[in-house]
Amino acid sequence: MAFVSTPLPHLSTTSTSRAASQCASVAPVRAGSFAPRRSGINAASAAQRCGSAAGQAVPMCMSARLKTAIVTGASSSIGLHAAKELAGRGDYHVVMAVRNPGKAEAAAKAVGMPADSYTVVPLDLARLQSVREFVTAVGVAGVPPVAALVCNAATWHPRDKKPRFTEDGFDETVQVNHLGHFLLANLLLPQLKLNRGRCVFLATQTHNPDTLPGKVPPQADLGELEGLVGGFKTLPGTIDGKKFEPTKAYKDSKVCNILTMTEMNRRYGTDGVTFSAVFPGCIAQSELFREKRGWFRALFPLFQRYITKQLVPVEEAGRRVALVASDGRFGDSGRYWQWRGSYLQGMDKTTPVPIDPTEREAGKAEKLWELSAKLVNMGV
Ligand SMILES: NC(=O)c1ccc[n+]([C@@H]2O[C@H](COP(=O)([O-])OP(=O)(O)OC[C@H]3O[C@@H](n4cnc5c(N)ncnc54)[C@H](OP(=O)(O)O)[C@@H]3O)[C@@H](O)[C@H]2O)c1
Repeated sequence: MAFVSTPLPHLSTTSTSRAASQCASVAPVRAGSFAPRRSGINAASAAQRCGSAAGQAVPMCMSARLKTAIVTGASSSIGLHAAKELAGRGDYHVVMAVRNPGKAEAAAKAVGMPADSYTVVPLDLARLQSVREFVTAVGVAGVPPVAALVCNAATWHPRDKKPRFTEDGFDETVQVNHLGHFLLANLLLPQLKLNRGRCVFLATQTHNPDTLPGKVPPQADLGELEGLVGGFKTLPGTIDGKKFEPTKAYKDSKVCNILTMTEMNRRYGTDGVTFSAVFPGCIAQSELFREKRGWFRALFPLFQRYITKQLVPVEEAGRRVALVASDGRFGDSGRYWQWRGSYLQGMDKTTPVPIDPTEREAGKAEKLWELSAKLVNMGV
């Protein structure tokens, strides 16, 4: 179901209108545009359809769903299937946090997510203002308490020659993958603490030059975070302050995801929140590769299937992410999960194992935290 974020002046805050805003279809708005738009829905009849009753805080259509899981980038591939898995558990309502609500709505329908199991809320991670507006919107959406945040969205522009600067003055890859999620996780932290929730970051293998996949150039290297110290805004727009290379920018941003997870765990791991990272396997056909050349997109899945034997279907990747976000076996904070074994040989041949997230960049986590907090104006 689509949801137009942030305060809807035309709807009162009674339970009936809340039910309507969540259960009825509202015309999607352009991601990042928060101007309220009325779709001609009838609040009372929408509430009736949902079974909402006067005085009921949460409409009956989601009453069995006791908590909310937010999944960023839930409009495609891994995020979509993680959202579907979480919604399928029955106890989670899913907030699909996406830059293109229309696409997310169609994707949710296409994979068969029940209409009462999710709410689409616009989020453009390339705009800090949008992140703040998203958190406000979730706060007034009337969804169950937020008990999971899956930081899944990412962007990668492998053929770019120079960075795309956002309106906030950062390289888009760094902002979407790292800074946007950094701000989002911190703004949602009070709710995650209150609900003893989970915060999960999507990680890669290629970010770590101490592993075989990570040795493929260009290797990730945050340097001394010179770019963050300088505050970006101008060329080269990179984290280490050196020459721009788009794939390195992606890998560096994924290192930042892991360091953010470990630093959040160091700071707040004893406050009841479980912080995790997960490498879901290689999904060589996902939209992440949309800007790669045709020959690469044709051959890479074959390479992963027959040479590395690491290919994982997107449904399985989504299931893995959902497990880390919700299953009791993944309740140990500060872990970075991978699945050992080849999925292609059968699911029973794979096992989740925690791997050491403390790699060569580990000593930079606290500095990265402080610099990032300053850049997103978190008031530190
Ligand atoms: N594919 C793999 O093999 C693999 C392996 C390891 C880890 N991962 C990680 O898994 C995660 C998901 O990747 P994927 O393979 O599923 O790629 P994907 O299909 O390209 O998904 C990325 C999602 O991020 C969204 N997004 C991009 N820019 C955004 C923005 N400015 N604001 C909000 N959302 C934005 C996209 O939205 P649109 O739908 O609007 O484009 C899309 O839904 C990433 O973190 C990636 O690093 C992937």
